[in-house]
Amino acid sequence: MKSIIIYYSFGGNTQKVAELLNTYLKDKGQSELIRLKDLKEPQGFFTQARKALMHSKTVIEETKFNLAEYDLICLGTPVWAFGPAPAVNTYLDKCFGLEEKEVVLFSTYGSGSGNTRCLNFMQQALRNKKVNGFRRFSVQQIKTNNADFILTRIKKIGL
Ligand SMILES: Cc1cc2nc3c(=O)[nH]c(=O)nc-3n(C[C@H](O)[C@H](O)[C@H](O)COP(=O)(O)O)c2cc1C
Repeated sequence: MKSIIIYYSFGGNTQKVAELLNTYLKDKGQSELIRLKDLKEPQGFFTQARKALMHSKTVIEETKFNLAEYDLICLGTPVWAFGPAPAVNTYLDKCFGLEEKEVVLFSTYGSGSGNTRCLNFMQQALRNKKVNGFRRFSVQQIKTNNADFILTRIKKIGL
């Protein structure tokens, strides 16, 4: 199985989950890891929250948008103001080649308020890309150093 994990992380929590997922999927075949880079990265909680609340897009560093060669596509974000970070909004808009693919959406969050809304929004953003099926998991920020916990979450969705 050929997998790819594309994620954005500002503070490193989502990165930890993405890296663990990558190690896990490498055991099952091939896996690539891509961290999205926001070239206009908003700084400061209120600017970040405002942009996320408006579901703003941004400018991201050129990356792999064609996902046709992968069997499993994993997309990760921190929850920002009940939604994905702007870099993820941009990627969801620009990616292609997801027809008949399995997609895993994952997030890290603080309190958890808006987490479901964030994942729903991501799923909705891909609605026209003919994805075969979605699986989702989330990890609270305080658990992002707990590899066993994260692996349990990953296995729970059948990966
Ligand atoms: C601007 C901003 C908005 C956030 N909004 C939410 C939120 O709506 N709900 C929530 O549970 N956590 C929220 N958080 C907490 C983050 O989702 C959490 O810290 C996440 O693990 C950060 O991931 P990162 O270290 O990969 O950037 C917010 C954090 C920031 C910086």
